[in-house]
Amino acid sequence: MSLLIGASSKMNLTSTQAAAYLDALRPMVADLADRDLFILLPFTSIWVARDRLTGSNIRWGAQDVHPDDAGAHTGDVSAPMLADLGCTYVEAGHHERRRDHGETDELVAAKVAAIQRWGMTAIVCVGEELHDPFERVVEVLAAQLRLLNAFDLRRLVIAYEPAWAIGVGATAAPVEWVRQVHTAIRAQLARSGPDGDAVPILYGGSVDVAGAGALLSQPGVDGLFVGRQALDPRVFAAIAHTPIHETHAAR
Ligand code: PGA
Repeated sequence: MSLLIGASSKMNLTSTQAAAYLDALRPMVADLADRDLFILLPFTSIWVARDRLTGSNIRWGAQDVHPDDAGAHTGDVSAPMLADLGCTYVEAGHHERRRDHGETDELVAAKVAAIQRWGMTAIVCVGEELHDPFERVVEVLAAQLRLLNAFDLRRLVIAYEPAWAIGVGATAAPVEWVRQVHTAIRAQLARSGPDGDAVPILYGGSVDVAGAGALLSQPGVDGLFVGRQALDPRVFAAIAHTPIHETHAAR
């Protein structure tokens, strides 16, 4: 599988700013033919991505979605609206949505259903809140992943994002930890069906240029999901160009 390297701008980049950002980013990554790239923007900037990225090697998408296709849900945005804007990916279950909006695994599963119903790929974030022992973390992840068994694994991406590694003041999880957790996630996905082997498992949480190479070189790390470091298009482009070491190339 190709490496999948993406970013979410979270609640950053107005449509005007997004236009400048994408115009800067696009030529900086145009040479990358052997990896898949994506950027998830606020709802209000997705149309800009469609305008600026069509025909490029960068796919675009949204950071959230409502599980219903239409109806009386003031302020919400549905999967057909996102599909209509050419979104390839829609994120569900990010730690900040679970924290700020009380999103549950059941709600996340309903969002995944909507995303796949409209032909898009769901990027589902999983991860533990605290520095728990490994066995406990595996249990937490198993509970988060279990509800995904019912879905089309060919249109699913898992992002392992431990809450303690996300955001200002945090540092990325140690690479040995990431390798072990990704192995556990892969084992669980493999039990979900034959397509479980093909689900990309990304790591996210304080990814930066300095740490990207070691993370991508871990067996079981299929890509990266970048937050604040990607707000500078030059930094995102540098992370996207990270050389990989033998261990990954040999897989
Ligand atoms: P961060 O965000 O890189 O700013 O820690 C990562 C994420 O939430 O996906």
